[in-house]
Amino acid sequence: MRIKIRSIIPYLWFKFNTKQIILFIICLVIILIDIIININKWQNRFKYSNKNSKLLYLKTNELNFYNDPILSQRQFDIVLSYYSEDIDIVAQYIRYLKNISNIEKLNPRVIVYNKNSNINNQVLKLLLDADIIQLLPNLGREGGTYLYHIINNYHIIANHTLFSQAGVEGITDRGLADWYFDRLEKQFNSSVGYMPLVTNIMISNYDCDSHITGNFPRMSQLWAMLEQSLCPPGGQAVAFRGQFLVSSKRIQNRPLSVYKYIYDLITANSSHWLHRDLRSLIFKSTPDNPIFGHVVERIWTILFKCFKSDLHDRCRRRECACFDES
Ligand SMILES: *[C@@H]1O[C@H](CO)[C@@H](O)[C@H](O)[C@H]1NC(C)=O
Ligand SMILES: *[C@@H]1O[C@H](CO)[C@@H](O)[C@H](O)[C@H]1NC(C)=O
Ligand SMILES: *[C@@H]1O[C@H](CO)[C@@H](O)[C@H](O)[C@H]1NC(C)=O
Ligand SMILES: *[C@@H]1O[C@H](CO)[C@@H](O)[C@H](O)[C@H]1NC(C)=O
Repeated sequence: MRIKIRSIIPYLWFKFNTKQIILFIICLVIILIDIIININKWQNRFKYSNKNSKLLYLKTNELNFYNDPILSQRQFDIVLSYYSEDIDIVAQYIRYLKNISNIEKLNPRVIVYNKNSNINNQVLKLLLDADIIQLLPNLGREGGTYLYHIINNYHIIANHTLFSQAGVEGITDRGLADWYFDRLEKQFNSSVGYMPLVTNIMISNYDCDSHITGNFPRMSQLWAMLEQSLCPPGGQAVAFRGQFLVSSKRIQNRPLSVYKYIYDLITANSSHWLHRDLRSLIFKSTPDNPIFGHVVERIWTILFKCFKSDLHDRCRRRECACFDES
């Protein structure tokens, strides 16, 4: 028997009053929103069907907590923040980075911070061919990871560090995207102080706290703290997505206490007042995804003094960096 939609609709109207129908539609919308919010989680669950991913979740008692010490200063460190990103893509990314001749000649060291305690640290180290692996609690997004690295290695920080999320920006099947390759191979040299490593569209000017993509509370407070002046009219250049290269000079140009203070805030537990900052009505601030983490994602240009409003233009002209005096 076939049911004709046309014949059902009048029946619905007859059977239910307007209030009930509106309620029904509201329920539908809520379910839809829930599906949209959760779709990311489901996708992540299905992504790990390949053999390397299964290895990653091998259970062992003590090996998950295996940590390598960082003992010496190097010329070039690649620091990655990992949670559960596709392991084959991340391994490929590391190979691409190390294969760039301008980087290769600096004998780069790969340091991976794993923020997922379900993952076997030693397997992760092997699969990524990392030199150093450390487990961190899953707090404060990638900003928490980078600050942890800076704080714990402040005095032996590499001459240049490339910080990156494992969910990479700028990778293709054949290698790094053209703009990424160009920056590392052609624009990077030993006097680079800070260089954003995201596409030009992710580099724009903020009016202190505000930007068309949303409101980022506390940015102007951080500005005031770091620059000892109010955030000026005209705001600052921001490169978001947490991928950049920075020199030891620029890192050490700020006192260790500044990094420690921001680290304490970004890893604060859920009773901290910072979690009550408002970004949007649906955003819920939690210690693993604090609203302040999204703010810190946008303060690196201020921390490393590369915030002049022409940054976007310079990146388009392929002069995408601020340089240290040599
Ligand atoms: C490494 O780079 C060279 C060119 O510089 C390229 O021919 C080669 O395919 C690259 N290898 C990998 C594994 O990306
Ligand atoms: C790297 O930094 C160290 C200490 O800051 C310095 O002695 C060394 O000359 C630097 N290396 C290069 C190649 O600039
Ligand atoms: C690095 O590149 C910049 C911009 O092209 C240039 O001004 C600077 O002299 C270069 N530094 C070195 C050490 O080559
Ligand atoms: C949260 O942090 C504060 C300050 O560091 C501390 O006093 C409090 O006990 C913590 N609460 C929880 C639930 O861990």
